[in-house]
Amino acid sequence: MKHKPELQTGKLGVLLPGLGAVASTFIAGVLAVRRGISEPIGSLTQMGTIRLGKRTEHRRPAIRDFVPLADPQSMVFGGWDIYSDNVYDAAQKAGVLDGRLLDELRDELSSITPMPAVFDRQYVHRLDGTNIKRAADKMEFARQLMDDIAGFRERNSCDRLVMIWCGSTEIYIEESDVHQSIEAFEQGLKDSHPSIPPSMIYAYAAIRMGIPYANGAPNLSGDVPALVELAKQTGTPIAGKDFKTGQTLMKTILAPGLRARMLGIDGWFSTNILGNRDGEVLDDPESFKTKETSKLSVLGSILEPDLHPLLYGDLYHKVRINYYPPRGDNKESWDNIDIVGWLGYPMQIKVNFLCRDSILAAPVVLDLALFLDLARRAEMSGIQEWLSFYFKSPQTRKGLPPLHDLQKQLIKLENTLRHMQGEDLITHLGLDYYQE
Ligand SMILES: NC(=O)c1ccc[n+]([C@@H]2O[C@H](COP(=O)([O-])OP(=O)(O)OC[C@H]3O[C@@H](n4cnc5c(N)ncnc54)[C@H](O)[C@@H]3O)[C@@H](O)[C@H]2O)c1
Repeated sequence: MKHKPELQTGKLGVLLPGLGAVASTFIAGVLAVRRGISEPIGSLTQMGTIRLGKRTEHRRPAIRDFVPLADPQSMVFGGWDIYSDNVYDAAQKAGVLDGRLLDELRDELSSITPMPAVFDRQYVHRLDGTNIKRAADKMEFARQLMDDIAGFRERNSCDRLVMIWCGSTEIYIEESDVHQSIEAFEQGLKDSHPSIPPSMIYAYAAIRMGIPYANGAPNLSGDVPALVELAKQTGTPIAGKDFKTGQTLMKTILAPGLRARMLGIDGWFSTNILGNRDGEVLDDPESFKTKETSKLSVLGSILEPDLHPLLYGDLYHKVRINYYPPRGDNKESWDNIDIVGWLGYPMQIKVNFLCRDSILAAPVVLDLALFLDLARRAEMSGIQEWLSFYFKSPQTRKGLPPLHDLQKQLIKLENTLRHMQGEDLITHLGLDYYQE
């Protein structure tokens, strides 16, 4: 890592494969904040502060003053989608933001039109669009994406770029031989190997060009050995998978607290109703399996049933998502948690979260774009585990168990920033406050 990376003032291009609900809410939000008509609530980079030194020193600068983050004013946006709607139309259809707000931003939003996508229905069964590329093989698709990226950079005079996958959740694919090395992967692209879905082709194109890449969906995408190796080789920071927003965010706030007090958990039943296009895609069992795997992974790692078989050994964890069109993007989730206390007495916790999916995801996209750009300038390459804070299924080095506890993830993120700027790390030991 390079300490104290320099501030760069040129334009930062944010490229988004998938210009649907999350992407359009993110772009419209940044434009609204830029004009001073809304506030960036939920964004750590825009609203967060960081403690430096001892508690008694009272040094708490804003994160954006402490590390040299790009200014959202300098962002330009582009992307790809299988539908040719511009971002204004996409936002209208997504129905997340108020029509009056969108109308105020109409000119800027309408000027962002999707480039034709790399897409194959084999990987997302419920969608069918016409704004798609044609090519003889998957390597040719990757080249077309790299041409798109170079063209975007030139047209918009971008100094730097980042790419964040905001496309639909693809079907469940397991890592296999074709993902094990750069050579095998590039051969697989030439052979149009079926285990290389579109999201991996976008990831490859970005990483090959040294463009930081994050994956907001649970599909593998950049999380295979070949692309991790390529990221190290090209000096590219990467992160994933699956934005941590509604129900799983709550789970990774609550479960660490219950475990900290050594309260047992017999069962955790989580169900959701969701009516947006994401919900429609997840209604397909093969896409749902990818999401389910991501959502189920968090409790085991937080509770460590192997260490505490009495408390968590028989935990029954179930996650359901039901597509229910009337709710649109306003997802509702219910959690029933059967917990066990002193002498084995049972208790229950109910959580009913009436959330707005894309409202929770948009600030995550903003923070990831800014932190990944910072990581690139700090010469941090490969997997950026310090960005686990933003993901349901954090990407880590092979064999290294991910951290899911939100507070531990925040400590890791903050200590990474302190380390970058040459400040003392904070361990919370605090014995020195009491030394005579
Ligand atoms: N909203 C959240 O809180 C949240 C949380 C975690 C993960 N996610 C994930 O983020 C992604 C986006 O969510 P959303 O609500 O915006 O969904 P959405 O359906 O509104 O948008 C996804 C867009 O991706 C496009 N797309 C699909 N395949 C593509 C391809 N190969 N190339 C280019 N475009 C493609 C679709 O046409 C669609 O417009 C989904 O995978 C979702 O599971 C969302």
